[in-house]
Amino acid sequence: LLQDAICTERIIAAKKTLGKRAVILAHHYQRADVYRHADLTGDSLKLSFLAAQTDADYLVFCGVHFMAEVADILSGPEQISILPDLSAGCSMADMADLGKVERAWRELGEALDPDEMVTPVTYINSSANLKAFCGEHGGIVCTSSNAVKILQWSFGRREKVLFFPDQHLGRWSGHKMGLLMEEMCVWDFDQPMGGLTPEQIKNARILLWKGHCSVHQMFQPQHILRFRNQYPDGLVISHPECSFEVCSASDYVGSTEYIINTIRDAKPGTRWLVGTELNLVGRIAEEFKANGKIIQFMSPMVCMCSTMARIDPQHLAWTLENLVQRQIVNQIKVPKREAKLAKLALERMLDVSK
Ligand code: 13P
Ligand code: SF4
Repeated sequence: LLQDAICTERIIAAKKTLGKRAVILAHHYQRADVYRHADLTGDSLKLSFLAAQTDADYLVFCGVHFMAEVADILSGPEQISILPDLSAGCSMADMADLGKVERAWRELGEALDPDEMVTPVTYINSSANLKAFCGEHGGIVCTSSNAVKILQWSFGRREKVLFFPDQHLGRWSGHKMGLLMEEMCVWDFDQPMGGLTPEQIKNARILLWKGHCSVHQMFQPQHILRFRNQYPDGLVISHPECSFEVCSASDYVGSTEYIINTIRDAKPGTRWLVGTELNLVGRIAEEFKANGKIIQFMSPMVCMCSTMARIDPQHLAWTLENLVQRQIVNQIKVPKREAKLAKLALERMLDVSK
């Protein structure tokens, strides 16, 4: 406890010395002892807009690696993006890599002309080189709050989409657009031609990469069933990284920002079951208690984004104190050509999302 108090004081003191030179951005999943120091908070889309707008010299990103990459790509050339712990990655982002995506693209070329017929769409939870791949091949980035809009944009241009890395977000968004299940096929990157027949590829509208979030896959339809039996008037809200079955059984589905806003705007006294990361659910349960809202976590298990939680107060204090000494640590710098192409795909998304 004494250690925590000392760390908090170190962060506050360093922030004060740095003033407007440094801005701390934090994703909603960030642990409470780090989140409280943030200047800017949001879901992935909001944080992308904020990173593009800030004029601070240092963008200290309390999130995961791909978020700090996006901040580097969208900020000015003199601005510096920093991830306080370099091991804060996203296991879903790691499920797609450039080699595998290029192989899928080549294999698709045996059945059709992908550059004419397929838009590559990458969820923002992906490495910068995959965003660059999308930039180069007429594709685009999406987040959990704009995926339907982005798919509509994509289908306005080409007839099919290769969606990576999250199959669940892709499937749910395709369903929201009115696509049938048989129009969405999983591309199993461990098998030749994604394990699909030429017929399946011909009929598919969305090819869904076989990736998922290890946190959101823990939520199950039976958790919702149990809640509904116990509280028939209760409301269920989930993140679209949950399985199709969980999303279908929920009353509301949306990004972290959407989840917070929906519960904030709900009637006082309502009871909620929430299917997303534990730090966020714990924070809003506390915050909305005042107007009588009861907020429950969906799973009996602890579902935390353990990699994001690696950004702890110690790493944040160390990072800021180095900046005070004008020493840059843990900079995230995307190579120039890659950044240029990734920016193209990100800016297409930001334009469509305005
Ligand atoms: P949001 O788009 O809601 O920020 O979600 C990002 C994420 O990583 C969820 O797991
Ligand atoms: Fe990645 Fe899942 Fe963590 Fe989101 S919750 S950052 S998708 S591992």
